[in-house]
Amino acid sequence: MCGIVGYIGAEQAAPILLDGLSRLEYRGYDSAGVAVFDAQAGALAVHKAKGRLQVLSDQLHGGATLNSTVGVGHTRWATHGAPSDVNSHPQVSRSGKIAVVHNGIIENYTELKAFLVAQGVPFTSETDTEVVAQLIEYFYEGDILAAVGRVLRRIQGAYALGILCADCPGQLVAVRKDSPLILGYGQGCNFIASDVTAILRHTRRVGYMEDGELAVLTREGIQCYNHLIQPIEKEITTVDWEIDAAEKGGYEHFMFKEIMEQPEALRRCLSPRIRDGEAVFEGLSLPPDLLKHLHRIYIVACGSSYHVGVVGKYHLERLTRIPVEVALGSEFRYMDPIVDENTLVIVISQSGETLDTMAALREARRLGGHILSIVNVVGSSIARESDQVLYTWAGPEIAVATTKAYTTQLALLSLLALWLARELDTVSDEEYRATLAAFQELPGKMEEVLSRRDDIQYFASQYFNHNSIFFIGRNLDFALGLEGSLKLKEISYIHSEAYAAGELKHGTISLIEDGTLVVALSTYGRLFAKAMNNVVEVKARGADVLSLTTQSCREEVAHTADAVMTIPDIHQLLLPCLGVVPLQLFAYYVALMRGCDIDRPRNLAKSVTVE
Ligand code: F6R
Repeated sequence: MCGIVGYIGAEQAAPILLDGLSRLEYRGYDSAGVAVFDAQAGALAVHKAKGRLQVLSDQLHGGATLNSTVGVGHTRWATHGAPSDVNSHPQVSRSGKIAVVHNGIIENYTELKAFLVAQGVPFTSETDTEVVAQLIEYFYEGDILAAVGRVLRRIQGAYALGILCADCPGQLVAVRKDSPLILGYGQGCNFIASDVTAILRHTRRVGYMEDGELAVLTREGIQCYNHLIQPIEKEITTVDWEIDAAEKGGYEHFMFKEIMEQPEALRRCLSPRIRDGEAVFEGLSLPPDLLKHLHRIYIVACGSSYHVGVVGKYHLERLTRIPVEVALGSEFRYMDPIVDENTLVIVISQSGETLDTMAALREARRLGGHILSIVNVVGSSIARESDQVLYTWAGPEIAVATTKAYTTQLALLSLLALWLARELDTVSDEEYRATLAAFQELPGKMEEVLSRRDDIQYFASQYFNHNSIFFIGRNLDFALGLEGSLKLKEISYIHSEAYAAGELKHGTISLIEDGTLVVALSTYGRLFAKAMNNVVEVKARGADVLSLTTQSCREEVAHTADAVMTIPDIHQLLLPCLGVVPLQLFAYYVALMRGCDIDRPRNLAKSVTVE
């Protein structure tokens, strides 16, 4: 989704802005632009282009054509108005005095636009953002901060804003509400950015803006303000990510690199949490009253994180016998959820910025639920607004299609289920110990799966031309199929659906015909025989069946399926965590063979910060 970067310092701003934007490309975008203060002209210079950032960069010779030490840049993911030069950001006010970059949506822009039009203000774009630029100019009487403050009292919605005013070339103004924006503290220079990857080359010292806060950046420092425009102190945090972690490191795609990083990410995530034969969540203490009266768990998330929740429901219910409901972030608010102080709400998000998930979190909090989040990005909004947070420590995930964040979320949620069962005394000592031991085997077994990736590449070469693919499985395998199917469709653009295998015969089986590819998942031993029956059913209707099962079941499956992928045998709690890896690889190789833009699939954004 839209990316913002801003710089003020002593160096040339444009190359820094373009470099920062290139590191935000992974978020998804369809056009890009920069605005800088051109000291010679005494005015703002704005350049925008539809399409890849490279188009803009070529026009500006990598930034060399602009002479300025302050500016803002933006990658736009269109919401209001089609992708075009004119709708790209920065948006400027009628006189060209104010330039604004924006991530989010101004919900009441229609009425504000009507008001401004009635005052004779001409508009050039279809964007909601232009309203902000025009409105700032409308209220501007020589004090930019005061004008921005007046605008903030009138606009509704979600916004991270970077604002330049031609009258104040030594200042850059930033605002945040419900869309991410961080401050970067450099040496003789300062930054704003949608996330740290954009500025990591320049500084590791960051401040997280809270909702309703403003900041004025100069070369020398950053002054933050609350919504009443009263000065406030901002805590500075040092980011410990290595720069290499956000680079491709010799791999062709971030997605492949991140698939291969999974064993290491799991070690980082799990080893500190399994000590001396116990699951240890340092700093996690659920209120004793909640533990005593806990009667419902909600898991709330979107996309792949939601799929983690679907697996988690099976684990949590089996281990704790507490009813668990899994809800999509975008649905939760509108389903009248039954949440009270005896409800645990587990919120899952890689980015920690997904607006639907965030809105669900706030609704759950309003209703009195206890919020425990599982998040990858440290200091993100969801992490900060939760009662408690468990970080996955997967490292930066750049590819749009999540892989290592999914497996670490899943491992963490599974471990949490076991821990909770121990706290509630619903798991036997024997099962607890056996399961914990399995967690320690997980990274090594995953390395084994990855080392056999050539087999998966071969299967991809056999099936990459299919136009429609079904994933079927029961229980844990159904949950796994949801993720396998999403991975495939989002990067290869092949139509794909995941079905609970027993449900096929209630309608969908009519779509199975000669040559339809069915990926049949049968890793879950308890339902193996039933899963095999479903394979026979689709085979009888002409399907090609590619199976995924455990090594010990390989031979049996090979009698029925056309091709078999396997994973090592492992405790059932960890089957989906291991089983997803061949499906990630399958999606990756299929997309590769179809020539797709794997790290930047069409229409998708990494961090979805609009509703
Ligand atoms: C799919 C994918 C998305 C995200 C979803 C939620 O590969 O990455 O479905 O899982 O947009 O994002 P987070 O986890 O950042 O809240």
